[in-house]
Amino acid sequence: MTITFIPLSLPATADAPKLARFGREVRGADPGNLNPEQFIEIRQALYEHDVLLFRDVTITPEQQYALTKFFDPESQTYGHGQNKTESNQKSILHPDLKTIPRVPQVQVIGNGTVYNHEGLAQAKLKHPSHATFHKTQISPKDEANGVTRFYRWHIDAALYDLSPPRVTTLYGVTVPRGSPQVCRYDDDTGDELPVPLGTTAFVSGKTMFDILPPELKSLAVRTKVKYAPHPYVWMAPARALPTGLGIESEGLELPLKELPPWEEARRKILPVLWKNPGTGQLHFQVHPCGAIELFVDALPEGAKREGALFPDGAHVTDLKEVRDLLYRMQRPAISPNLVYPHDWHEKDLVLFHNRGVLHSVVGALSEDQVRVFHQCNLAASDDPAGPSVEDVHNWA
Ligand SMILES: [Fe+2]
Repeated sequence: MTITFIPLSLPATADAPKLARFGREVRGADPGNLNPEQFIEIRQALYEHDVLLFRDVTITPEQQYALTKFFDPESQTYGHGQNKTESNQKSILHPDLKTIPRVPQVQVIGNGTVYNHEGLAQAKLKHPSHATFHKTQISPKDEANGVTRFYRWHIDAALYDLSPPRVTTLYGVTVPRGSPQVCRYDDDTGDELPVPLGTTAFVSGKTMFDILPPELKSLAVRTKVKYAPHPYVWMAPARALPTGLGIESEGLELPLKELPPWEEARRKILPVLWKNPGTGQLHFQVHPCGAIELFVDALPEGAKREGALFPDGAHVTDLKEVRDLLYRMQRPAISPNLVYPHDWHEKDLVLFHNRGVLHSVVGALSEDQVRVFHQCNLAASDDPAGPSVEDVHNWA
């Protein structure tokens, strides 16, 4: 049977030409039982289209782990490592993660209480809410009227010691139906986006780079980001911006000496732009919440200095300046017309290129709206490649 790749249906808010290559529904392949030829075809499609959707599939946790591992056969542990260490207990991610006992690389995430699920006698799940993470809140009245926010734009990655997973697989076991909501940006732009209840929102890192003006493309191609050690512990006391795209700079982060033990050599310094292994294109891949410093290379010889930012290079250590620069480069790409909010149905399996997109949990669920998803990603066997010498020459 041949595999077909069908464009996803985009919401009316989407800039269809800009999202033309984004996302495909896959038909004609069983994701739990791919042969090597089918896998190679699907991997290439994922690199080209960022997000793949399989509708109405049945896949066990074992099969989901195997599918995820296909993308990186040497990878073994869950993307955030074992879910039992001290650093994970204190992490802001900890309450969101419940491990399937017989396949610890697969997590159960969602909302409400589930019983006798895949070896878990009882699991209390909580859909993350902006109310526990953002500095400002939606009023109870607006919330009752279905107003919500992006929770946190991110890449699935530990950002300390472990390398960012190549792919994340998300399987919708139980999906609550309910009225659509309106995701409000609350950043003085007036931007808002109608979203299905409990959507996962995606934006393309390629688009994030492509739409930048030349001086910010030049900065992006020359810059590396240094992440905080144990970033999810470090950021735990801090509060996020209303767009969920980074943290308010109020000095609330944990001092580095108060973090669980860490070593400088295990910290992550990653390029702003990650080179897509299937297309060679550059994707703007920064987890804005975990960034702590920037290293900017000087312009290469022959590059135009006029209008360039940091033409002689820089080591930016002021946290507010780091965040402001990243926000200036990332905010345009989360505009409503560039967001794909997935409308989940039960038995949907979504694969996303975690090194090519940013994504966010969205929406507020009440306790009786039970949502059960299986999520798998694996700490990669390598770090992502950055821009080539030729890329720097082309964009700096
Ligand atoms: Fe995620």
